[in-house]
Amino acid sequence: MRVLVLHGPNLNLLGKREPEVYGRTTLDDINDLLSRRAKELGIELTIIQTNHEGIMVDTIQQAHANFACIIINPAAFTHYSIAVRDALAAINVPAVEVHLSNIYRREEFRQHSVISPVAVGQIAGFGATGYLLALEAAYALIRGA
Ligand code: DQA
Repeated sequence: MRVLVLHGPNLNLLGKREPEVYGRTTLDDINDLLSRRAKELGIELTIIQTNHEGIMVDTIQQAHANFACIIINPAAFTHYSIAVRDALAAINVPAVEVHLSNIYRREEFRQHSVISPVAVGQIAGFGATGYLLALEAAYALIRGA
């Protein structure tokens, strides 16, 4: 059972970046949490962070046939990247969208996700825990639950 975790732009700065919004947990901490839980569930994780839209599109395209599910925090791409949305729509791999913050109680420009219509579902507002919830959701999806 293989799952791809895709972190978008600026998430490499977690822990230092606007801690009042995103918390003090670093991306390495999140990846460790995910890796530990994945091991318990028997899931093989591939984790990628990129600041580049094209790399995110390439990575999604290549996920086709290689992964049973994608957990994606598209970060700022959430709000405007039709390219990332189209890549997700083009492949036959279910996606779980994650946001650390509750984007619906933030600035107006963050309150719309162009990704959500092509995701199975979205988890937002639970910080690092949201990634663990997304992993549980991915596990359930893969098992057909
Ligand atoms: C984010 C929310 C986005 O609006 C923002 O651009 C991010 C992070 C989140 O996880 O809360 O970079 O996706």
